[in-house]
Amino acid sequence: MSLLTESKVWKDLNSHYNEIKSTKMIDLFEADKDRFNKFSFEFDDIFFDYSKNIITEKTIELLISLAEQSDLKIWIEKMFSGAKINITENRAVLHVALRQKNGDSVYVDGWDVLPKIKSVQNKMKDFCKNVHSGLWQGYSGKKVTDIVNIGIGGSDLGPAMVCDALKYYAVEGLNVHFVSNVDGTHISETLKKLNPETVLFVVASKTFTTQETIANATTAKKWFLEKTGNNEKNIEKHFIALSTNEEAVKNFGINTNNMFEFWNWVGGRFSLWSAIGLPIALYIGYDNYDKLLEGAYKMDLHFRNAPFEKNIPVLLALLGVWYNNFFGCRTYAIIPYDQYLEKLTDYLQQLDMESNGKYVDKNGEFVDYTTGPVIWGKPGTNAQHSFFQLIHQGTQLIPADFLCPIENLNDIGEHHQILLSNFFGQTEALMKGKNENEVLLELRKSGVPDDKIKIILNHKVFQGNKPTNSILYQKLTPELLGKILAIYEHKVFVQGIIWNINSFDQWGVELGKQLAGKILSELKIPDKISSHDCSTNGLINYYKSKKNK
Ligand code: F6P
Repeated sequence: MSLLTESKVWKDLNSHYNEIKSTKMIDLFEADKDRFNKFSFEFDDIFFDYSKNIITEKTIELLISLAEQSDLKIWIEKMFSGAKINITENRAVLHVALRQKNGDSVYVDGWDVLPKIKSVQNKMKDFCKNVHSGLWQGYSGKKVTDIVNIGIGGSDLGPAMVCDALKYYAVEGLNVHFVSNVDGTHISETLKKLNPETVLFVVASKTFTTQETIANATTAKKWFLEKTGNNEKNIEKHFIALSTNEEAVKNFGINTNNMFEFWNWVGGRFSLWSAIGLPIALYIGYDNYDKLLEGAYKMDLHFRNAPFEKNIPVLLALLGVWYNNFFGCRTYAIIPYDQYLEKLTDYLQQLDMESNGKYVDKNGEFVDYTTGPVIWGKPGTNAQHSFFQLIHQGTQLIPADFLCPIENLNDIGEHHQILLSNFFGQTEALMKGKNENEVLLELRKSGVPDDKIKIILNHKVFQGNKPTNSILYQKLTPELLGKILAIYEHKVFVQGIIWNINSFDQWGVELGKQLAGKILSELKIPDKISSHDCSTNGLINYYKSKKNK
């Protein structure tokens, strides 16, 4: 048994779960008219309601004791002060320093990281200004019209999601494209839309060795040279790099004056706050990018200073642990009722699942409890017409976060009220359900005969008691988005601390990289392969026998 599952508070939570598991939320609301006020609060322009959960005040007390037992407060301070909490890579975890606004020094290996951060941010700001004003010109003297970010994982998902979410704020006359997949279709279809005279390729890679990114960047470079008379000199006006690896950038053929640096203490999935955010700054303007950072900084202060019982990321994390480890929920849905947040769950999947998809704890032992859930979701109301059936009437319990703006950036006719009515209505329906009597009355009222009622009755019953958190925000601004992203980053952090895992490495991704490298060389020779298991050999050899037929 691990120290966690052996601990008194874990056992208390288990007994409490057995007491409360069949409790109906609807009865809890009935018994306590103040429940909404007890389990909701406002922070800045965000309202957080967690009253529609299968919890009582005792649940929250016990969950907070769990956080205290894990020394959460101490770990938060360790992260913010630059301690090397990424123990398997011996690195600090300092994405929070990238958005720090109070100027306090943060030291890593004896040097203050803030002046370095400021200097890269100033370089980004100047570069944006030059691109927007047309001072930065392509080889033939034309202004940049298209930014193409070439990167994958954290060097793609964050910037791609933020650019999409904040397109309302985009600078006029500038398009942004994201190429990530090594499938040649991605780069080919993107190149078709581009003019080599006005394109700017942003090669984004922390390591600058990632196979997919280097393959796509090489293809982009070849395309560019072919289209522009093979003059290598032209490259410097059309290729820039965002990386920690100056040597590899140089070897690729990008002038290091056109490189925007970041550091190994910025994890890939937390890197949109670093130079990796340059496509965002180019697309929405540096001032708006800075507001995104400002929003995240405000949430950092809230996370660091608010008591746990009034702390949005901490509560979200604890509720996630409650459902994951005690109710046995294996997945967690995130449903933004905001079309601009269409890519939010793609981004959160990497953030959460790459961070907490771990079965070994910080002591190197296999855990005897479940860790990170599967994160998924799509915007409402579309989601209502696809997977909501399973959330309402499926056999699994799926906790969910619902997010929605109070003001819509596109306030047309009744659209936003319709959207809101679905947002409010779904969380209510998930909580309340619809019992047999209600269904019976409804069917009788609409004149359905009794023999038909017998057949249909149970199909129309909703058991309800499905937990949701509601996050209402004033409107989608760069600052607000910064706050939302920081909420989820810190939620993932807190859960990693409770589960005693290192949320900052990603060894699980390495195996695939190694295997693909070996097989690639085998694909290049005509001979049959016999170095793998018979299924893999069979598949490779079948491919070889069929290609170019
Ligand atoms: O997928 C693994 C990973 O290491 C991610 O953590 C990272 O975001 C991605 O690869 C891209 O890595 P890089 O920025 O070094 O190209």
